[in-house]
Amino acid sequence: MFEASSCGAGASAVLPATPIKRELIAVNPTHRPVISSTGLFTPEESITNEELVTSFNSFVDLHNQQNSDAIAAGEVEALQHSSVEFIEKASGIKARHVLAKQPVLDPEVMSPRWDERSNDELSIMAEIGVKAAEQALKRAGRKAEDVDAVLCAASNMQRAYPAMAIEIQQALGIDGFGFDMNVACSSATFGIQTAADYVRAGNARSVLVVSPEITSGHLNWRDRDSHFIFGDVATAVLVEDAAMAPASHWDILGTKLKTVFSNNIRNNFGFLNRAHPESADNADKLFVQEGRKVFKEVVPMVAQMIIDEAEKLQIDPASLRRLWLHQANAGMNRLISQRVLGHEANDDESPTVLDTYGNTSSAGSIIAFHQHSEDLVDGDTGLICSFGAGYSAGTVFVRKVA
Ligand code: COA
Repeated sequence: MFEASSCGAGASAVLPATPIKRELIAVNPTHRPVISSTGLFTPEESITNEELVTSFNSFVDLHNQQNSDAIAAGEVEALQHSSVEFIEKASGIKARHVLAKQPVLDPEVMSPRWDERSNDELSIMAEIGVKAAEQALKRAGRKAEDVDAVLCAASNMQRAYPAMAIEIQQALGIDGFGFDMNVACSSATFGIQTAADYVRAGNARSVLVVSPEITSGHLNWRDRDSHFIFGDVATAVLVEDAAMAPASHWDILGTKLKTVFSNNIRNNFGFLNRAHPESADNADKLFVQEGRKVFKEVVPMVAQMIIDEAEKLQIDPASLRRLWLHQANAGMNRLISQRVLGHEANDDESPTVLDTYGNTSSAGSIIAFHQHSEDLVDGDTGLICSFGAGYSAGTVFVRKVA
């Protein structure tokens, strides 16, 4: 188990009672990291549960028909239909955006497809990352030349190398450095802490954390237990030194990262293991999970982590104005916010984007923050929180400055 923590006031500093005075937040008054802006790219195409289930059930019928003799002989198990009611009740998901709808819904393909691009063209993962990053830069009034680093923080990288981050850096025209990092669903929060640490150390003043999540590529669209879970999106978070940030920004009060090894969410795809992911024998080269175990183990771990971290920062968890939680399952978020706030959270306290985006891995809590933070006022305190495979979890406590 590895834990890393950093809070604005430094681990050994005595923190004042809430509200934290802004001038006391800095570990290094010269370099204080804040969130200057965010960006979001949403694919145009979306798949409803009805469309998804119709396609899945056609695949099941086709499979059962093609294997009817083997099924009758007890050699092959008949597949079962999926249901819209189950999906919505078990997960809260009603639709998901995807980059390639038609092939995903084609019962004979059931996987995303697009024309292969040459090495001279911008790759698809970089393309959507650039779109989200451009929006974040625009919202902060920032030019590419002011940015020092790009972290591509996502669950899956399109290739081994060169790093996606370096391609995004080049496409944006940023002079500096970039690298990829993968902590599955917690990639974005881990990226925010990493960026904040670069700012604190004086190694960078402005860092883009880009999370292009093309999760349709790692989802097994033929698996009844999980075919409804994921969607595609890209987010970007601009972490900067307060000295250069726009007047309206988010102070980072403290971040906390935690990992505990678990096989309950796993994907064995990799460069040492190149078997074709669409072969039935190779289902483990796509996303696989023990959903019930994940639910049971992750909810208490994350709720306790939030409460402990709030205590360290001398923030009453019940006073948090808004929770931007990882978007994997509506039931998990209900339980976590109940434990943290002490009452059932309403949509205003814990907004959901899961219904229209599905689980977008590390981008989920950032979409929620991006879409549901404008209305908060100066001094409001909130929490961005991720959790997922690893297990991995990350908290970013923020306070609005407007
Ligand atoms: N349509 C209809 N029924 C389905 C179905 C589908 N698509 N998929 C599964 N079922 C059935 C199962 O066969 C099972 O039936 P049984 O009780 O007769 O055996 C029943 O529904 C319950 O299945 P289960 O997998 O236990 O459902 P669940 O209520 O735990 O919900 C998840 C499944 C995956 C939605 C839920 O566990 C979850 O979201 N967990 C957390 C996941 C998570 O956060 N993962 C992180 C990913 S990064």
